[in-house]
Formats: sequence, C-alpha cells, structure tokens
Amino acid sequence: TRCQSTSIEKPKTKRNLLDNASNLLTNLLSGGILETMPVADGAVSDLFGRPLFFSLYDWFLEHGSVYKLAFGPKSFVVVSDPIVARHILRENAFSYDKGVLAEILEPIMGKGLIPADIETWKMRRKVITPGFHSLFLEAMVKIFTNCSERTILKFDKLIEREGHGEKSIELDLEAEFSSLALDIIGLGVFNYDFGSVTKESPVIKAVYGTLFEAEHRATFYIPYWKLPFARWIVPRQRKFHNDLKVINDCLDGLIKNAKETRQEADVENLQQRDYSSLKDVSILRFLVDMRGADVDDRQLRDDLMTMLIAGHETTAAVLTWAAFLLAQNPSKMRKAQAEVDSVLGQEKMTLACLKRLDYIRLIIVEALRLYPQPPLLIRRALKPDKLPGGYKGDENGYKIPAGTDIFLSVYNLHRSPHFWDRPNEFEPERFLVPKKSEDIEGWAGFDPDRSAGAMYPNEIIADFAFLPFGGGPRKCVGDQFALLESTVALAMLLQKYDIELKGSPDDVEPVTGATIHTKNGLWCKLKRRTLQQV
Ligand code: HEM
Repeated sequence: TRCQSTSIEKPKTKRNLLDNASNLLTNLLSGGILETMPVADGAVSDLFGRPLFFSLYDWFLEHGSVYKLAFGPKSFVVVSDPIVARHILRENAFSYDKGVLAEILEPIMGKGLIPADIETWKMRRKVITPGFHSLFLEAMVKIFTNCSERTILKFDKLIEREGHGEKSIELDLEAEFSSLALDIIGLGVFNYDFGSVTKESPVIKAVYGTLFEAEHRATFYIPYWKLPFARWIVPRQRKFHNDLKVINDCLDGLIKNAKETRQEADVENLQQRDYSSLKDVSILRFLVDMRGADVDDRQLRDDLMTMLIAGHETTAAVLTWAAFLLAQNPSKMRKAQAEVDSVLGQEKMTLACLKRLDYIRLIIVEALRLYPQPPLLIRRALKPDKLPGGYKGDENGYKIPAGTDIFLSVYNLHRSPHFWDRPNEFEPERFLVPKKSEDIEGWAGFDPDRSAGAMYPNEIIADFAFLPFGGGPRKCVGDQFALLESTVALAMLLQKYDIELKGSPDDVEPVTGATIHTKNGLWCKLKRRTLQQV
C-alpha cells in the first residue's frame, strides 16, 4: 500500500521535567513559545554503536516526522518530512546556515561553497554555476570515459596476472571506485591527473588524509581541533595540517598555471560555447578564462578544495552501492547489461549513447535513494522560525528559536513508508510509475512527469520526499557532473563484467562519516563477460 501512515502511531511525547525546564528557558530567551515537539532521548552509545542515521530512522518511526533529539545538554531537531524539508531548504532557505557542518569544514574548505556564509555564497555560486552548464559537462564526458577505461584496463591486467586462468578477479570495488572518482574529479575540476587508479602519490595520500580527518571530525562531537595549540601538539592534527599544505600547494600551482596559460582563443571558444577544440575542459579553466586573471586566488583555492572533497567520495559511494545492489539482484543486472549491449555493443561510450542508457540512469538514482550521500543535511536557524505542520506532525507546526540545530534526514525521507512503496527494496523502475498519491495537504505527491525534460529524476518528482542532491538554492552544484560520471562508469563496468559479492550481503557493514561507506570494503568477484554475451 502506498501510504501506511495509519499503521504508524501518532508521535508520542517523552518529556522529563528537566527537559521541559531547559526548553522553556531556551524558548523564553529566544522569544519563542514552548512547543510540544516529541523528544527522543539518545543514549551516548547510540552515537558510537552503529551509524547515527540508523538510530534516527528508528526514532522517526517511533516519534514521527519532526522530533527533538537530546544528547545531554546538546539537542537537535530531526526532520523527516518533505513539507518541512521544502520549507527549510527552499522556502525559507536564507534563514538557515550550515551550523555544525560549517564549523567542521571551514578549516578545510575555507569560504568554499559548502560552508560559506550566505554573503560569500551568493557571490561565488553565481560565478561557479555556469561552469556546470550542460554543454560544458557534455564536453567532459570524454574525461569520464577515459578514466573509466583506465580502470577497466587495470582490471583486465589484474585478471591476466592473478586470475590463474579464470576470467575473474576478486577485489575491493569500493577502493577502486574511490580511485576512479578521484581521478575524474581531479581532471574535471582542475585538470590535474592524480592517476590514482594506477599509482600512489604524496598528493593522493594527502587527499585521503584530509578526508579521513574531515570524517573523524564529523563523527566526533567535541571540537578537539579548536583546542589551543592542538595543531602543534596533537600528532594527528600536525599530520592534518601537513596534508592540507600539500593539497593547497598543489592547487596554488594549478591556479597559477591556469592564469599564466590563459589563451584569448580559448576564451573566445568558451564564450561562443564551442568546446570541441579545448584541450582542457575543467571547471578551473572555465572560471579563469571567463572571469579573467583577476579572480582572487584564495577564494578560487577554497572553491576547488570544496569541489574536490564534495565530488569525490560522494560519487564513489553511489557507484559502490549501485554495485552492491546489482550484485544482489542478478535479474536487474542482466536487464542493465541488455541495455548496455543494445546501446553500446562493444563500442566506446559516447555522449549520444549515454543519453540512451535510461535504465542505468535509474539504477544510479535508485542507489542514491537507498544510500543518500550524505544521509543527513545539517542546518542551523539564524533567526527564530516556524516550521510548518508536516504531513502528520503537529498541525500548528513548531516554533524554533534562533540557533536551533537541525538534522534533515534524507535517509528517513528516502525510506519513509509514507511516501514509497516497499521503501527498502531496490526497484529502479519505481521512478517511471506514476502513483496516485494519498491526499496530503501541502504535498504535491509523486509524479515522474514533473521532472520530464530532465535527464534524471530529481527532487521535484516527489516534492522534496526525494532529495538526492538536496534542494533549493544550496542544492548540489555538481549534480549533473556526478550523474553523468556515474552513469558512464557503471555502464562501462557492466559492459565488460558481471559483479558477484564475495561474501554475504550482511558482511558488508555500512558505516558513516560524511557519506555512507563500508566498514571493510565491497569485496566482489568480477567476472569477464563472454564474447557471445557482449
Ligand atoms: C552540495 C550531494 C557530487 C559539489 C551538495 C548537497 C548534496 C550533495 C546533498 C547539498 C548539501 C546541503 O544542502 O547541505 C552530492 C552527491 C554527489 C555530489 C550525492 C555525487 C553523487 C558533487 C560533485 C561536485 C559537488 C561532483 C563538484 C564537482 C557540491 C558543492 C555543493 C554541493 C560545491 C555546495 C553547493 C552550495 O552550497 O551552493 N552535494 N554531491 N558535488 N555539492 Fe554535491
């Protein structure tokens, strides 16, 4: 059944006196009024025993689509409701900033788009968005194809060397996708070839070191890095600052080079949107050429660093979970391969082919539905606000004081039994089927036609119950880059290989930092498809 809201109990309220008192105080101080938001009392063990987003899901089923989560003195409002999500992300977007997330990311990304304050964001978003326009992205397809080809070549060589006569190889696909995504983001964003599919380098190590630290900070709730002298005393902090320096030096060199090699002929081609003769189709080239050599270097570096971090692990994770889901659904894998065979045969990927890979595209978005990256969006109210009454929350909505920290659980929205049939099943076809929606006041329902014209289903089809790239003004700027890249990589992999899990699916334990990844890798057996099949 489409909507099981009746089977889920009305939100319960679990308040204790202390909580009431502190709430009253906060509300009085902020000029708000005391509300009746349900409260989930988190145990500290909930933070460490398993990924937080799993606990948030259980509490969502128990307490409803808007609840307060209290960990000792710290509390968050957890939102799993499309109407409230739409309010926070789109309708009242500028009353919120990135709160805790900005605190974590600012030392790494500076004033890059993700942590940027609203004023900086307004200025930079205008400059960066044109770098992702569709024609320019289409010119990048050859980067996606070349990098994927390198990965396939590596697998073929491994099979030759270590396959012992068998046409298969066992490997950790998550690690391979991570290298592939790093190479693509390096070339696509600043025309730098990490070459990480085939080698290790100090810059690659520094990127992973930085990601590791960002992730650690995201899961550690005490900002230890802010302690005085931490960067000199704590060895991990020293390493982190060294890693940052390695990457920043590399980026500074690339920016300098891009400015020095700015060619009027290229600029003209860019202005006329003729990208066929460009050797370097990177965002950096675009930004430097279109804005002249006077772009502020520090800001540019922050932007590049942000895109490097935002675009690497997220894309690797989508490919990882798509492979995981396909390996457990051989009939869907065969259906995907049949499409690849009929569109590509044994030929190389082209833009025209890419546009015809309808089923592969749905697999990518369905992987993003089941494993959204990141599983939570984080916001902090800059001023008092009133959250609208959700689809079954308090009809009057909830007033929240300035400073309220919000976790918008995309994972909960994407697996909500209120909005999805069989929410935990892998069904890429679901995005094609129009559904009669139960009348939920204020929610437009699910309609695939609403994203007609777009190549991939987006947040509009389910009116914010589907948020693969967020929504509103701070929606991901690299969404189409990531989708095209993932479609190319997955199609090229399926063109050549069958994917089997090495162990049981239960051995693949999800863990989370900024993205959902696996604890010990996605160990798979890749089997070369036979010529007759291809
Ligand atoms: C923002 C997801 C790939 C650059 C976001 C947001 C999400 C997201 C959910 C919104 C965050 C929020 O509202 O708090 C993803 C996923 C990706 C992906 C799932 C891969 C499948 C990329 C790529 C790039 C990129 C490839 C760049 C090349 C950014 C930037 C922002 C952003 C700069 C901040 C936008 C702003 O605040 O204006 N991403 N992203 N992302 N993403 Fe992505």
